Parts: sequence; structure tokens; C-alpha cells
Amino acid sequence: MNTMTDDVKVRVEKIISKMSLRAKIGQLNQPETPVGSEAEEFKNAVRRGEIGSVLMSVGATAGNDAQGEINVDFYNELQRIAVEESPDGIPILFGRDVIHGHKTVFPIPLAMAASFNPELVGKCYRDIAVEATNDGIHWTFTPMLDLCRDPRWGRIIEGPGEDPYVGAAIARAIVGGVQGDDISKSDSMLACAKHFIGYGASEGGRDYHRTEISDYSLYNYYLPAFRAAVKAGALTVMSSFNDVNGQPVTSSKKYLTDILRDKAGFDGFVVSDYDAVTQLIKQGVAETPEQCAALSINAGLDMDMHDRCYIDYLENAVKSGTVSEAVIDEAVRRVLTVKIKAGLFEHPFAERKELDRTSHLADARALATESAVLLKNEGVLPIAKSAKVGLIGPFANERRSLLGSWTLDGKAEETPTLAEEMRKAAGDKLNVINSSTLAWDSTNKNIAASDVVVLAIGESWTATGESRAVSDITISADQKALIKKAKTYGKKTVGVIFCGRPIAMEEISGDLDAVVYVWHAGSEAAGAVSDILFGVSSPSGRLPVTLPRRATHIPLYYNVTSSGRPVDCYYGENPGNCYVDSMPVPCYPFGFGLTYTEFEYSAPVCESDKISLSDLEAGKRITVSADVKNTGAVTAKETVQLYIRDVCASLMRPMRELKGFKKTQIASGGTVKVSFDIGYDDLGFYDESGNYVVEKGKIKLFIGKNCLTENQTEIEII
Ligand code: BGC
Repeated sequence: MNTMTDDVKVRVEKIISKMSLRAKIGQLNQPETPVGSEAEEFKNAVRRGEIGSVLMSVGATAGNDAQGEINVDFYNELQRIAVEESPDGIPILFGRDVIHGHKTVFPIPLAMAASFNPELVGKCYRDIAVEATNDGIHWTFTPMLDLCRDPRWGRIIEGPGEDPYVGAAIARAIVGGVQGDDISKSDSMLACAKHFIGYGASEGGRDYHRTEISDYSLYNYYLPAFRAAVKAGALTVMSSFNDVNGQPVTSSKKYLTDILRDKAGFDGFVVSDYDAVTQLIKQGVAETPEQCAALSINAGLDMDMHDRCYIDYLENAVKSGTVSEAVIDEAVRRVLTVKIKAGLFEHPFAERKELDRTSHLADARALATESAVLLKNEGVLPIAKSAKVGLIGPFANERRSLLGSWTLDGKAEETPTLAEEMRKAAGDKLNVINSSTLAWDSTNKNIAASDVVVLAIGESWTATGESRAVSDITISADQKALIKKAKTYGKKTVGVIFCGRPIAMEEISGDLDAVVYVWHAGSEAAGAVSDILFGVSSPSGRLPVTLPRRATHIPLYYNVTSSGRPVDCYYGENPGNCYVDSMPVPCYPFGFGLTYTEFEYSAPVCESDKISLSDLEAGKRITVSADVKNTGAVTAKETVQLYIRDVCASLMRPMRELKGFKKTQIASGGTVKVSFDIGYDDLGFYDESGNYVVEKGKIKLFIGKNCLTENQTEIEII
């Protein structure tokens, strides 16, 4: 018996017992911040108890539009009205998209995943929560956990990439950081796992499009990150815009209740995505807004974001009998439970104290450093102290794009440029060539005088994010030409790639002597990149997504099953046999990343080559380890990765599945034994009904640097 839960229940029932139907529905209503003259009527609606939550932004794609500074006084005034003048005195829950930073901007979430350092990610989200709650934000719409295999999708930047194991690790880190160790504290913020579910599978990477996801794929690929978020204590979930196999998730009892609640154990509340309830008409499953409201609430969708469908139509739906008041009570119960658990009744108001963000900026720099992935290095990095460096390209003096999409509160003008940060490190050995075009000619003295040319290239933040899919995932033609031109000087060239998504690298990687993929890495991106270029830090990021050669090879991801035929599209096997005109092997595989030293792996050793299924079921684990030696001259971090392959199962299993990773610093010349304990949870899979099964038979265990590792041993489950 949990007394805290019982107390909460008693409080909730006491409140509900006095509420009118209208006030109950008000708790399920989340309008956005009013603009201009709308404010007075908005206050009256709060007074009438019609507003349970406020979306602290304006517009359907908040991450793409400039959002004003948070007006704390206005929100506090709304809260005062709610607490003092509304019929039940229930405080408003203020929610905002604090996706990868508040005032301090951290790397985009895809880059955070590339750090393979969940502990640091969690620490950064703690910083984020401290900043955001200081401005009165109780609830953030993160983590975004949409597994994605299509880099054309603009929203790939917001998620953890293509792998369910990484997704789950990131989910735990973000929920833990945002909600803190005690969700009722005033600097803890509610997390919202989104977008449930399958949004990242939108056809062709076209935002909001339909998806086809078998139950087998759903349970094994798309659901694990959400399960992890729920297990980590996420108290809210946002449903996704898309349909899965013809069922809009917004109105799907299968997804919102049977799978999310019954299978994954979620007991918080579900909020819709923006206007998604009335969208059911356009999706063709409802004809009237009242039907939309009824379908959604009956499916298990508790709160309606923005479109007023619940507040305007649910009362009638109750009168006409399509929705029972008990269903509404249940939704209200969930919302109130979360409000109470979050301590909202105890600290409803924003205090906005002066915050010293120095340590947050340091964490942002650490995470930006750990997110950068060194893809190629032919004797050029780190840049020697004596070298003269030419810096050119559209990102040399760029500020805003460094912050990435979904930056509602960070300021571009406070963000240092790469030129500024490299100047600090290199002084007058740096020549900034202030041209992002081809205007510079072959007699350009600055280039001619340089030993190394750094090309700061990539994609604008405006090419990423919501409703910003692209069909061409290469960098722009003028930047490709810039790389070719730099090559003609016969200098060493370093490509520093500021991108939000995986880009097709085939055309450019051959012309660059070194490539560092630095993403849109936030407020401290430039400092982190400068540190890496000059060897102040060693790169340690790894790819959480495959980098394809060409867009025509999409989808290209590592954890696929075997076709069983010689013509096999798995990217690590039978290269060239799949398409007759090009090789679908990736430019850089999942898990890949270099640093300024080399690591040598011993063969993995398992403490036993057999383990019984009954022992596994009873909780026994088995240890597999490998010795990893740093054979170079530089101390650096290695991300040691554990993959498995279930050789023969009742359903086909992927040729490699990530089941563990450990980021470990290894001194030059040193050797570290890296061990993984694997157990029941790691060795099975979900069948089509969502039941987790571990089967007897052989399992290959691989320990290596990336998904292509062949460094293996085998165990048998008997
Ligand atoms: C996005 C969500 C976001 C919401 C509120 C929607 O358009 O899909 O991710 O949280 O808007 O801004």
C-alpha cells in the first residue's frame, strides 16, 4: 500500500466530487497563450474554470516561429485567477516546448543521442528544468522518442535516431533529468513522452503522413523507448498526429489504451497534439467536432491541445450519450493526479529568480563536445598549434543555426560563432575568409597562406524541424562546389558539418581530408568544435543513425533481418548485390565514430557458454567482456558497444541489435576490461501480440566499435 498514492487519490476524489461537468471538461482543455485583445476573454475563461492547462506558445509549429519572451507576470495573473477566482481553485498547468534547452541551448536531441552519454544528457536536462521552472514552466513536451529511419523527415532532429535501445536510454535520461528525483519539487518539471506512436515512420519522411507499422515492429522497434519513459516515471504522453495502419492515433483505443496503458503500464494522462482532435474530420473518421471529441476521449485521450473540441463539444456528447460522464471523470482524475503529484497546488506561481547559468553553459559545452562525431581523419586533426588555418563557409560566422530548431528561448545574439571561438584558440594564425560563396579565386592569399582549410558547412536550422522535410539530403550545390574548390589549392581540408539530420555523404567525403559531424549543437557549439579541431578535447560521439551514401538508399538502418537470399540488402553484407547501379552500404554505419587514438579489442569472453532459460527467468545474468586497449598517444573516450544476434527464433530477429554500450575513458597505452551483464530483458523479443518471449537457442554476442563488428562469441540458452 502506497500512502502517498492513497493521499493523492483522496485529494483527487474530494475535488472531483464538487466539480460541475463544465469545470471537469475545463481541466481537459489546453488553449494556447492569447494574443493582444484575446487576453481579457481568456482571463474570464480561467475565471469560469474552463482552462486546465495553457500552451505557452503561439502557432501550430511553435518550433519554427519566433516565440516571445515569457511574460511571467501575465501567466502569474492567470494563475492567481485560477487559484482565487475559479469555481474549484485548481491551478493551471503551464506547458511549453522546452525541447533541448531553455535560455541555455543544448545540442539538438539527435546530437545528444550521438554522445552515447545518457548520464551527461540527464545532467543537462536537470539544468534545463532548473531554468524553465524558474520561468514558471511546469511541463515540457519532451522527450520526443520517435524512432526514425528516414533522414528526409525534418523532425528526425528531435529524436534519438534509429535504434530502440538508444531510444530507451535517452528516454530514461531525459525523464530523469526533467522530473528530477522528486517531481513535487518546484524545480522539477513534468516530462511528456511524445509522439505516441509511429510518427517517425511517416511515409517518405513527409511530415504528418500515414504510417504502416506491423504490431511486431511496433512492439520491438517503436514502443521500447516509450516503455522506458513510462518506467522512468513520465507522467504525461502526447499522442501523435499520424495514423497507424488506418487508425489515427488520436482516436485509437488500441494504441492509447490497450497498448500504452494496458501493455506499457502508463498511468498518467495523455494530451493530444496540436489541433489533432478536430483533425479526425480531415483524416476521415469523424464528420463533426462532437464526434471527434467523443472518439478521442473514449479512446483514452485525456487533454485536448488547442482546438477547443473538448470544451465546446463534450458536454453535448454527454447529453447525447456518446460519452459517459464516468469517462470524463476518469480523464479528470488523471489530470488532477498529475497536478497534485507535481506539487502544483503547493507552488503554482513563477518566481523568476536571477540564475547563474555558468555551470549550465559548461555542461552545454561538454555535451556539444561529446556529441561531435569524427568521421574521417587522414592525418590532419587535431590541427597543429603552429599551423595557419583558413576558415571558410556559411557556418563560419553563423549563430542562429547553431542553436537548431525548437529553440524557443535561447538567443542567437548570445551564441558565439565558430570564427570567434577559433580566433580565441588560434589568434592571428586564423584567417577567416569572409565568403561563403565561390567569390574567392585561386590567387586568394589567405587560402594560399594556410596550411589547413576548415570548411564550416551544413544545413540551416530552417531546413529541419516540424513540417520541414526535405527531398534532397545532400548539402547545397554551392557548398559542394566550395569543397571542390578548396581541394584545388592542394591544402589539407577539414569539413565541419553543422547538420540537423543525417546527410548523404558520398559526393563530399572523398574530397575532404577530415570530417567532423557537429550537428546543431547549441549555445556552446562553436567552443566545443574549436576544442576538437585544436585537440583540446578528443571527439567521442558515435552515430545514432546511419549516414547513407545517397538518399535513394533510404531506408537504410542497421538492425534489419536477413533476407536469406544472396541478394541481401543488409548494409554490412553482400555489398553491391542489392541494387545493380550502386552499393547500398552506408557511408558511415550506426555506432561509428573515430577519435585521436586507436583502440584494439580482444575477443569477447563470456563467463559461461550456456545459461538456462529458467535461470534467466529467475533473474540470473551473464557477464560478457572484452579488453579494450588504447594503442595511440592520446587519452580518449571509447564507446564500447554490445550487439546480439538471435541465430534462430520463432520470428526472424535482426542481424545485429544493440544491447549495451559503455563510454569509457582509456589512457594512452592503457587497457580497460569492459563488461556487460546481460539477462532476461536483453535476450528476448516481443511477439505480434506484444508478449515478451525469450527462447532457447544460440545467441551471438558481439563487442566492438560499431554495428559492423564481427568480434564475437556465442552462448546458448538451454
Ligand atoms: C508538435 C508538438 C508540440 C506541439 C506544441 C505540435 O505541432 O507536433 O511536438 O509539442 O505542437 O507546440
